[in-house]
Amino acid sequence: ASVAPFSVAMPLPPVLAPVATLPGIDFYRLSIQPSTTEILPGVSTPVLTYGGQFTAPTIRVRQGRRALVTFDNKLGHEANVHLHGGRVPAASDGYPMDLIANGKSKTYDYPNNQAGATLWYHDHTHHMEAEHVYRGMHGFYLVEGTDEQQLGLPSGAYDVPILLRDALFDDQGGLVFDPADPYNRPTLMANGKSQPYFKVAARKYRLRLLNGSAHRIFELSLGNGAQMTQIATDCGLLPAPVPTNKLVLSSGERAEVVIDFGAYPLGTQVTLEDVSGPVLRFDVERRALDRSRVPDRLRAMVPLAAATQTRQLTLSLDPVNIQALINNQAFDPNRVDMQVRRGSSEVWEVTNSDTNVGGSGFGVPHNFHTHLAQFRILDRDGKAPLPGEAGWKDTVLIQPGETVRFQASFADYLGRYVYHCHMLEHSAIGMMGQMEIVS
Ligand code: C2O
Ligand code: CU
Repeated sequence: ASVAPFSVAMPLPPVLAPVATLPGIDFYRLSIQPSTTEILPGVSTPVLTYGGQFTAPTIRVRQGRRALVTFDNKLGHEANVHLHGGRVPAASDGYPMDLIANGKSKTYDYPNNQAGATLWYHDHTHHMEAEHVYRGMHGFYLVEGTDEQQLGLPSGAYDVPILLRDALFDDQGGLVFDPADPYNRPTLMANGKSQPYFKVAARKYRLRLLNGSAHRIFELSLGNGAQMTQIATDCGLLPAPVPTNKLVLSSGERAEVVIDFGAYPLGTQVTLEDVSGPVLRFDVERRALDRSRVPDRLRAMVPLAAATQTRQLTLSLDPVNIQALINNQAFDPNRVDMQVRRGSSEVWEVTNSDTNVGGSGFGVPHNFHTHLAQFRILDRDGKAPLPGEAGWKDTVLIQPGETVRFQASFADYLGRYVYHCHMLEHSAIGMMGQMEIVS
């Protein structure tokens, strides 16, 4: 199924309203259920959803204000919810074996004691995470930082979350999920529509870009070659804005950019392009007042504490046994791979050793995501990270043969948390380990 690009408008996922509110706490409720949606114009596609919506409703919270979110599982089988980038108690983390049975409900406790950032929530059912996310179990969770209002960044209608992802369709408009061929998903989507347009005013916008694909790496630029101003990475604002022509986002990564459409005459069309084609077109169609700004300083970075441990992790595929490994072992829920002291700071050196998978001569990229911990990239093969990687991250792309060193801080909570490749077809077959945070 192929359609003419830019024939439908990009929707904004609805913002979820609390079902109840107490001082300091908001209560939310969402179903987990099958549904249908129109991704390709005029075609109904079966999907799996949170709240019946593809993209799921956006949960928008304020830093320091707790959210209790109850999920009612009506999927027909087990599922769960992980808050990607959230610093949450282990019981609410969506551990891969910690599932909600069909017909049951679970309340997740999200303290939101963390800096403002673009987080997202998605399924994490072991072995099923790639398929569940691919079929639609993904949505935004935005934490508004207490430091953000005074900065004067574009806000309200000019603060726009955009979930980018890909898919392969069959002739009936169904989503084809083939874990063995994650590279053949040619349809690019923004907020659940295939190559939509988005009508914008001639002013600045804050765009929160999330790569919600199970596998694809997006390499994004504006079709007219103009610069974007990157203001945030996975875990929130950068120390200072970074002008850039290109954004590389692997599965699970986020980048926030400010684009000033005020420089263009009305009627201008600007595409957001991946290397494989356009994802989205911005149509500049009206004037609007703009008092927003991008200050020179965004969020001060606290200096890193001294690291107490250095660990090496190696990522590799085992195509013969259809497994994916960390330090030559597939995920085993009964094995704790490391113990980490709460409050400590550690350096992890993560190597992608897949330069020649199964003797094919081809390398495979991986990425690496830590639950609970946020990290700062120290270097890639000894070279300084890119300016857009200068903030706190939770997911990092690692090219074949590359070693990324990062320093992570383990605050807050005790218990078991996983880390894994976020190319979810890989975590589903074992490229995942678990740490136990101990006191
Ligand atoms: Cu976005 Cu463990 O996941
Ligand atoms: Cu991988």
